[in-house]
Formats: sequence, structure tokens, C-alpha cells
Amino acid sequence: MSENTINLTLEVWRQNGPGQKGHFETYEAKGISPDASFLEMLDIVNERLISDDKIPVTFESDCREGICGTCSLMINGQAHGPNKGQATCQLHMRSFADGDHITIEPFRAKSFPVIKDLAVSRAPMDLIQQAGGYISVATGAAPDANLTLVAKEASDMAFDAAACIGCGACIAACPNSAAQLFTAAKVQHLNLLPQGQAERWKRTEAMVDTMEEFFGTCTNHGECHEACPAEISLDFIAFMNRDYVKAKVKNRSLAGQG
Ligand code: SF4
Ligand code: FES
Repeated sequence: MSENTINLTLEVWRQNGPGQKGHFETYEAKGISPDASFLEMLDIVNERLISDDKIPVTFESDCREGICGTCSLMINGQAHGPNKGQATCQLHMRSFADGDHITIEPFRAKSFPVIKDLAVSRAPMDLIQQAGGYISVATGAAPDANLTLVAKEASDMAFDAAACIGCGACIAACPNSAAQLFTAAKVQHLNLLPQGQAERWKRTEAMVDTMEEFFGTCTNHGECHEACPAEISLDFIAFMNRDYVKAKVKNRSLAGQG
């Protein structure tokens, strides 16, 4: 090893496609700079596989700066790796020691079928969003939006919820594969704002019902919060549950059954 680099042994999940049998393959990652990101380390491993005429490892990434939520990897059994409040793309190799063995797997959940190797489909999360994660009121351009007064507390809380990057780590970390933290963040960042009130009750019921079609039930383990790169608060789940109960009553009243 050169003074400034580390050598690692990787156990990487390889799987040709959905429903196929997968297995771990071992790769040596030699001469890695501690300043490289985890994804850059995988890029280096892939370049070496390609130059050896082997098939590179499929994994997802886009922004590589913690905002898009695509870089979904289980690293040594932890969603997004060992550091709290970071997505995989924000993890650097200085978090590992020379000679470490690192196990890299896809996010595992029944609703996340493996597409190939480390890439999974998170389509049911999109269905939750489609069920109500939008507003219909016209907010105009930024200066118009600034004319709508929002209480500071509501604005801060909505911003905290909107920090969710939709990565799915909360679901992968949960022993029940529950999607409460993701859904709560997406419901509440709109429910807290004046612009989100028009569809508040329909949104809440539709998004929670869609969530329950695809994901498990929350039993308050809190692993979702521990794995979340945006450190979304568990309080949002309580707020969502409160709104869901209210929505059941209010939506029935709107339908003339109240
Ligand atoms: S709540 Fe956190 S872990 Fe779950 S999708 Fe959003 S950012 Fe990812
Ligand atoms: S690549 Fe966008 S959050 Fe990691």
C-alpha cells in the first residue's frame, strides 16, 4: 500500500435480473484514496473489471451530492453505510481502514425487486407520491409565493420534512419494510403549508392507503430514522397518523356520509 491509499476486499452482490438467484463476488479494491467517495471507489473497481473484460457492477447514482436519493446501497448491513445523516454518495473512504472487508448489497425489501446487481426498483414509492404528493393551487413565480404568509414554525417544519430525498433507506432499514417515514415526510411537507390545505385530507388518506398496499406496518422500531440521510424526525409519523384519522372523518363528511 502506498502511504496515502488503502486496500480493501469487497463482497459485492451480483444478480442478473429480477427474480434471479444472486450471489456475492469478491473483488480487491487496491490503492484507493481515502479522499475518494464510496461511489468513486466503485467506479475504480468497475474500470478495472471493464479493462479485464468482465461485466461491471450495476449501481445507481445521479447527483452524487446527497439530493437525488438514487444511491441506494447496504454497506456492511447498514443502509447508506456507517455514518449517520449521509447518503452513500456522501460517504468517503476515510471512514474505512486499510485491510477492511466491506459487504455491499442492494436495498432489500419485498417491494424493491432487484433490477440488476445493486440497483432495485423503488416504483411503489412513486405510486405513493402520485396518490397525492402534489398541490393543485397555482402558486405563481417565486415573488408571488413569497406573498403568501407562512408561520415560521410551520415553514421550518415543512422544510425539515421536504428534506426527504426519497432514497428508501428507511424502508430497507425497517424490519417490517414499512414506508411510514418516507410517506409522512411527503404528506407533511405539504399538509403543513397554506398552499397544501386544499387537498390535505384527500392527500393524506390516498397516500397512506397506497403506502399500506405495498409496504409493511410500522411497529415503532425507529430504524428508519437511524438510517435516514436527511434525519427526518419520527414526529412526522405521529403527525401523519393524526391527519389520517382526521381525514377518515372529514372525507366521509365531504362524501355526505358524515
Ligand atoms: S425519509 Fe429519509 S430514508 Fe426515507 S426516503 Fe426520505 S430521505 Fe430516504
Ligand atoms: S447520488 Fe444523489 S443522493 Fe446520492
